[in-house]
Amino acid sequence: MPNQLFCIRITDQIYLEAELDKLVIRGGKRLKGSVTISGSKNAALPIMAATLLAPGEHLLSNVPHLRDVSTMGRLIANLGAGFHLENNNAILDCSSIKNFEAPYDLVSTMRASVLVLGPLVARLGRAKVSLPGGCAIGARPINLHLMGLEKMGATITLDSGYVIARAKKLKGAAICFDMPTVTGTENIMMAAVLAEGKTLIENAAREPEVVDLADALISMGARIKGAGEGLIEIEGVSALTPLRHTVIPDRIEAGTLLAIAGITGGDIVINACRPDHLDAVINKLKDAGMVFRPAVNGIRATGPRRLAAVSTMTMPYPGFPTDMQAQLMAMMCVAEGASVISEKIFENRFMHVAELRRMGADITTEGRIATIRGVRALKGAPLMATDLRASASLIVAALAAEGETTVKRIYHLDRGYEKLEEKLIALGADISRYKE
Ligand code: EPZ
Repeated sequence: MPNQLFCIRITDQIYLEAELDKLVIRGGKRLKGSVTISGSKNAALPIMAATLLAPGEHLLSNVPHLRDVSTMGRLIANLGAGFHLENNNAILDCSSIKNFEAPYDLVSTMRASVLVLGPLVARLGRAKVSLPGGCAIGARPINLHLMGLEKMGATITLDSGYVIARAKKLKGAAICFDMPTVTGTENIMMAAVLAEGKTLIENAAREPEVVDLADALISMGARIKGAGEGLIEIEGVSALTPLRHTVIPDRIEAGTLLAIAGITGGDIVINACRPDHLDAVINKLKDAGMVFRPAVNGIRATGPRRLAAVSTMTMPYPGFPTDMQAQLMAMMCVAEGASVISEKIFENRFMHVAELRRMGADITTEGRIATIRGVRALKGAPLMATDLRASASLIVAALAAEGETTVKRIYHLDRGYEKLEEKLIALGADISRYKE
């Protein structure tokens, strides 16, 4: 078995064994100390897909060791690339990409697999990608991705659960998204960098991960203007060269740690994070009574004795991020007063509510609106993780709860948080991982 597939198999084995892991947390401690944030999952995944656009050996630094990164690595290796991780560096050799199919068994475990669609059509003129299907938080269609590719001249057919896209040569086009879509913007940007002529993406997603992908593509020789704004302009070029890029810090991991500092009344210095990527979150947490001070390359967060209730609605960046909704809700369960949280991005992102209720939280939901009445304290309980950010919210709640909490199906957490329990133990948390 080729070396890189062998090491992917090893990491897969590690993740497969983690399927039955659970975390046991004894809450009530104020977490203190400093922690370093890992690279961003949602920046690393599209940039790994972007390496398909250029033959040669790419080096991507500050890549987190996550289940989803391993899955994306396996998918890219499946297409003919070489892939391996050395510490937090990903080395990808995309000299001979022959296969253009992203199979169901990979795509069904990670929706972000759809990010190979644009690069494969741009590089090979064709792609066959399994439709991602829904997930715990919603239907998550990809109609806007496909609309953009069709406007660029691709023919799109659906066959037995697969999207088949073909284009001799993509042409630049003016594309306007009905709503900002992060991976939709990323897919079209990657398709456009090798297209003939100019592409305009209106109502583009403005997330920092979109900007990081654009920076990586520009380092490969792409011509992109306006990433991070609502209008992105891409001038196609004939060829790209391999990238050397460092992934931005994970703003959602940083936000999750801010939430932990807030709910435990702790005092945490968060290193290697970008506070400017978290304005909406930091402003909301200030309203809840947290105090923030600048730190050398990050931020210091101090939680109050008791949080004040705040309300919000999730919005595309720079609004309050949907990926922080569950973590804020956990904080509001023990805040002083009532809070209303509206989930405007996904139709089913309250899977954590039932679990928080098991801890004594007072939450009522009406469609996509949750009302949380703060209680004095939550009680530890046996819980089940359901999706990535829901499992993070259960950890946030458990760290402040009285007594012991067990969180099962912790593989959801392993998809997006690198060594979280190690980081929390270093901050004084009483948390252990057990194999069932
Ligand atoms: C990205 O998902 C992130 N994933 C998500 O993070 C994040 O929650 C989401 O953006 C926030 O918008 C990655 O970057 C890998 P969207 P994405 O397309 O791109 C609708 C996490 O926890 N839509 O921006 O799939 C869609 O249903 C994950 O790390 C269409 O209708 O989300 C949703 O309501 C979870 N048609 C809205 O747009 C389309 O073709 C925004 O979705 C595409 C999207």
